[in-house]
Amino acid sequence: MQNTLRSLIQAARRAKRRAHVPYSKFHVGAALLTADGKIVIGCNVESSSYGLTICAERTAIFKAVSDGEKRFKAIAITSDGSGTTPPCGACRQVLWDLAGNITVVLDGNSREPVVMKLETLLPIPFEEKRFTRRRKERS
Ligand code: THU
Repeated sequence: MQNTLRSLIQAARRAKRRAHVPYSKFHVGAALLTADGKIVIGCNVESSSYGLTICAERTAIFKAVSDGEKRFKAIAITSDGSGTTPPCGACRQVLWDLAGNITVVLDGNSREPVVMKLETLLPIPFEEKRFTRRRKERS
């Protein structure tokens, strides 16, 4: 697993080079590991209407899902920052929805990576199941 995580970080670093960041100039790269060992990468892509920007993590998971991937093991995240880049709140929820409690590998750049489960970053997620049940109860 250690080697896999290392290659995942390498893939995220490569993805980071593709970041389209004319406004923030902050490059982020993500690499998602599927259950059958495929790696799907993503970078942040910014819009002139700033709020429409998409983070690297969501680029990766949306690419993977649209390619038919359904089961995931881990995601590695890297950026221009000096330390780790934990995913933003929106990405935590989307990862939870589409990938579940995967392993999150935060590239430490010059330091050791920090590895944790997604539930550590999102201890009380919004659960689609609850929402669906309530909708059913009402009808
Ligand atoms: N960004 C990501 O790609 N992932 C995160 O988890 C946080 C922020 C991007 C969005 C924007 O392009 C830039 O970083 C600055 O916020």
